[in-house]
Amino acid sequence: MMNNENSFLEHNLSRINQALIESLPEENFSEITKAIHYSVMNGGKRLRPQLMLLMADALKVDVSNKTIDLMAAAGELIHCYSLIHDDLPAMDDDDFRRGQLSCHKKFDEATAILAGDAIQPLSLEILTSIKDNNLSDSTKSKIINVFAKACGPKGMVEGQNLDIKSESKNLNEDELDRIHFLKTGKLIEACVLSVCLLKKEIREEEVEKLVEFSEKFGLAFQIRDDILDVIGNEQEIGKPVGSDQEKNKSTYASVLGITKSQLKAEKLSKDAIDILISLPYETQRLEDLCKMIIERQA
Ligand code: IPE
Ligand code: IPE
Ligand code: MG
Ligand code: MG
Ligand code: MG
Repeated sequence: MMNNENSFLEHNLSRINQALIESLPEENFSEITKAIHYSVMNGGKRLRPQLMLLMADALKVDVSNKTIDLMAAAGELIHCYSLIHDDLPAMDDDDFRRGQLSCHKKFDEATAILAGDAIQPLSLEILTSIKDNNLSDSTKSKIINVFAKACGPKGMVEGQNLDIKSESKNLNEDELDRIHFLKTGKLIEACVLSVCLLKKEIREEEVEKLVEFSEKFGLAFQIRDDILDVIGNEQEIGKPVGSDQEKNKSTYASVLGITKSQLKAEKLSKDAIDILISLPYETQRLEDLCKMIIERQA
């Protein structure tokens, strides 16, 4: 997707990586910090922080770029932790991630578990440490609440739980929608909602529409992930192809087939774009992102 043919993504990518590297503890502090650097500064599309930066531009929020970048780094860190744990033998048991050995393969399982454990509070530490005269303590605490909820027991963690428990079961489309909404959608929703909180004069119905946009965007993104697990190129996606089938997972690809899954992703992307168009903001780049996530090869 983001092979940097879009200069706005490339420009934002350097901001994102800069904020991430500045937010991490020094690499050589311990084995765990080495594993953290290994698993965070290793490429990745940085979709969630890209979405946050584009949202901030679209809404023309009042806070500084530095604040946005730190929030985006926090969002990406939660995602990075989830990937480390997702690859563990007790979860998806995948040996490769972002084109290199998974954290538990490069280091060991205990190190990978602890690196993931450490990244979660680190993301909250980053959010609590933001200093910006245009960001009140009450808004900051709402932002933290949004992220904490999204990755907690009723959010991403439950999605991952249902995903694991669904192995070798035949799920229907509604059940699949729910798992994907929780495991992938919730964090993406938090990325969008947290930026909405920075816009003081935004109307409640606009926030509701943006949340709806984020749900469609997140689902389309995960459907394409399921499709790429079947038809993707291992070099390009940087993780094993066929991993879902090997685990007997119910995915969109296995439940609906590739063609119907892609059509569903296209419909969601189109609906997401229509929501953006209905809003009084400059959303062209967000619309471009909606198209990219369903055409992406990685
Ligand atoms: C992979 O996420 C896991 C999903 C939730 C689909 P990404 O496809 O965003 O992975 P990276 O960050 O680019 O490696
Ligand atoms: C992962 O979904 C979702 C989270 C990490 C929360 P997948 O298991 O499909 O992600 P990949 O395919 O391993 O990247
Ligand atoms: Mg998984
Ligand atoms: Mg996985
Ligand atoms: Mg997958």
